[in-house]
Amino acid sequence: MAFGPIMRFKVGDLDIELAPLTHESMSEFVNLSHGGGMQRHQVTRYLGRRLAPTVEDEHEWFDKTRADRTSIVWGIWVIDGNERILIGNSALNGIGEDGHTGFIRQATSGSMIFRPEYWGKGIASAAHKARTWYAFQHLGLHRIKSAVIHGNGGSSKALGRSGYTFVYTERNETFVDGRLRHMDCFECLNPLDLFWRQWWNGDKPPAESLKARRLTRGVMAWAEENVTLP
Ligand SMILES: CC(C)(COP(=O)(O)OP(=O)(O)OC[C@H]1O[C@@H](n2cnc3c(N)ncnc32)[C@H](O)[C@@H]1OP(=O)(O)O)[C@@H](O)C(=O)NCCC(=O)NCCS
Repeated sequence: MAFGPIMRFKVGDLDIELAPLTHESMSEFVNLSHGGGMQRHQVTRYLGRRLAPTVEDEHEWFDKTRADRTSIVWGIWVIDGNERILIGNSALNGIGEDGHTGFIRQATSGSMIFRPEYWGKGIASAAHKARTWYAFQHLGLHRIKSAVIHGNGGSSKALGRSGYTFVYTERNETFVDGRLRHMDCFECLNPLDLFWRQWWNGDKPPAESLKARRLTRGVMAWAEENVTLP
């Protein structure tokens, strides 16, 4: 595990690749000539981070991630001819660590595009769809969890497009831009019959989850058609 396999798809005219990060590429996360990436408040304010990382921190994170058997991480690259531009990452963390039965397999997802000039183009929405498909179709997870700090509307919208639904709110989770902020917790359930049945285990799924299941099934169909897993 640690890094996920290459996945390719298009977002409008852009060729996007989810692929393993490299040690050398980590400096892009803090590259000042592209605006500073994770050293920008604009990028990290909803991530619960206060300290700006340096390239040494990024290399440390890379080494830790490479050895982590409970995470699957991808870099998000824009492919422009021969140029590969690293713009962010996407991850499934804590895979299988939850749950006392050891039977239900879950993960917590997270994502970041550290170059804001690439925001609002649908890249995260599509990357979430590819990641959701991989998690359900190829890893056989039952459930993906995520959490979004209030104010980060772009993040909840992008997650909603994969069929993540609201579960509950943690009040006063953090303090951002002069205000205490709540955090919404979301879940996305594997819509495939086997996993769906095991998750609900005889309980009646609420209407919201049934609606989300239809959406996630649509996402899986989109990915089968549009995501290349070479
Ligand atoms: C959150 C993030 C991943 C979204 O990536 P993105 O590629 O811009 O997302 P998308 O373009 O796929 O979708 C975002 C949608 O939300 C909309 N949006 C943006 N800000 C919004 C806001 N404050 N309220 C509501 N909608 C908003 C966008 O217009 C877009 O909708 P559209 O496609 O209908 O125009 C990106 O902004 C980011 O990396 N932010 C910094 C790190 C972060 O917050 N990560 C998530 C932690 S939970």
